[in-house]
Order: sequence, then structure tokens, then C-alpha cells
Amino acid sequence: MNTSAGLDSDTGEESETGSASLGGNDPPQTPSAPGGKPFLPDPLGPRREQSRLVVAVDGPSGAGKSSASRGAAIALGLRYLDTGSMYRALTWWLLEQGVDTNDAGAVGALAAEPIIEVGTDPRAPWVRVNGTDVSAAIRTQEVTSAVSAVARVPRVRAHLIAQQRDIIANAPGIVAEGRDIGMVVAPDAPVKVFLTADSAARADRRAAETSWSAASTQVDQDRRDRLDAAQSAKAGDAVEIDSTRLDLDQVIDTIVRLARERADVPYPHQQTR
Ligand code: DC
Repeated sequence: MNTSAGLDSDTGEESETGSASLGGNDPPQTPSAPGGKPFLPDPLGPRREQSRLVVAVDGPSGAGKSSASRGAAIALGLRYLDTGSMYRALTWWLLEQGVDTNDAGAVGALAAEPIIEVGTDPRAPWVRVNGTDVSAAIRTQEVTSAVSAVARVPRVRAHLIAQQRDIIANAPGIVAEGRDIGMVVAPDAPVKVFLTADSAARADRRAAETSWSAASTQVDQDRRDRLDAAQSAKAGDAVEIDSTRLDLDQVIDTIVRLARERADVPYPHQQTR
């Protein structure tokens, strides 16, 4: 499978966000082949190095990682990577192929088959499988119910983690969210957040986004939490944020403040929220 960091749109235009903080001359990101090299020479030179920042955001489902990560990426002028969307995209494709997603052998053997691309504009992230936009399709209950089993397969993880590292390495600065970013994907990230919320609050939030009741959402959430547990450990140097009683802006502000404190982040050129 090829996984690549995509452009902000089919036109290949740089996002306002990326250019605001990282320089308008930042070279466009073309799909980065696994093992691909950053663009050289870098027209931004030392400044780009100075402002290159990786923010790792981990935590269980329903804690608000995606909204908070996107908001923080916009505020900081960084790219955004939703690693969960990659596991979901593979799961979507496997279901389309009629593969039994509980058959770890079959899933592992096919892990590298589809071409998965992700867009890293925090204002409009997308994911494609073999050229088809599956940004909405990967959010169905069918995919949500099946994805944990797929994400546990070692060959799947090895493959997608390699691609995620490649995307992160080639981004001028990025907020990457998932389960294992701070521990495995980007253990050297200078800013690590572990975003939690109590189980009932998480289920309520998810239920509000779906047609499921809070009760059945919580049952499914508990099942997924158990399945995801092995790859969901909090990094020792991560800052835990309990979002149970925080609103989205408060979570975003906390992440942005951490980024400024822990890394040499220039003040955002524009506040976008
Ligand atoms: O955050 P999410 O619900 O979109 O994640 C989908 C699945 O992928 C979920 O089962 C957790 C798993 N996942 C993972 O194992 N590692 C990641 N870095 C991101 C997600």
C-alpha cells in the first residue's frame, strides 16, 4: 500500500494555514512515497527547521481528539494527520473486498494492497483509497465496528506506522492524532498530549454524532477501548488533559499553550478560530 500526505485540494494549492506560519514559499507537498525524501534544497532553510513542530495527540475514542487536533493545528499553522482515518480506510477497503476483518491472517496479507492517501489540511482533511474519496464512508457504523480488529494486526500496524512516520517527517510541522503517536509513531515529538474524558461523557459525545443511543454507544465504546488498549498507552512525557468538563476552545487553548511552552513555536501569524 502506498500512503501519502496529500495536497489541500486537487489544485495542489497550499493552505492558508500552512503558509501563514511556515512560509508562503513552502514547497507543495506531493504524495510522498514510502521512504521518500524531503524536498531539497529547502527554500526556507534554517527557519523551517526552527519552526518544525510535531504535536502528538493520543487518547481514547470520543475524547475529542479530532476536533481539538484540527483546531490546534489551525491555530498553530501546522498540518494535521488523522492516523485513525488510515486504519479506517484500510478497514473500509477490506469490507468492500468481502474480507473477514476478524481473520488476522487475511487482513495482514492484504494490508499493503490498497493505495491510501490522506490530506493534511486541518481545515479540510480527506482520505482516499485507490483514488476514491472515502472521507464519509469510513465513518459508518460498519467500519467503526470492524476497525479495532484490523488495527490490532501487527502487519497492518507496521505498514501504516511506517507511512505515518514518512508523512510526519515530510511535513513542515504537524499535529498528529491517534493512539500510539507519542509512544511509537513519533516518540521524539516535543509536545505530547493525552486527551481523555470519562466514559459516559465520551459516549454522549459520540451518540450525538450518530443515530445510536448513549447506552449502546457506551457498550460499543467499551468493547473498542478493550480491543484498542494494547496500542493506547499514555507516553510518560505526555501531558494529560481531561476534557470531561472542558469545551473545545479550552482544550485547543491548552494544547496551543503547551506547544508554545514546550517548543520554540513562533506566535501564530493569524488566529484562525
Ligand atoms: O480514532 P478512530 O476511532 O478514528 O480510530 C479508528 C481505529 O484505529 C480505532 O480502533 C483505534 C485505531 N487506531 C490505532 O490503533 N492507532 C492509531 N494511531 C489510530 C487509530
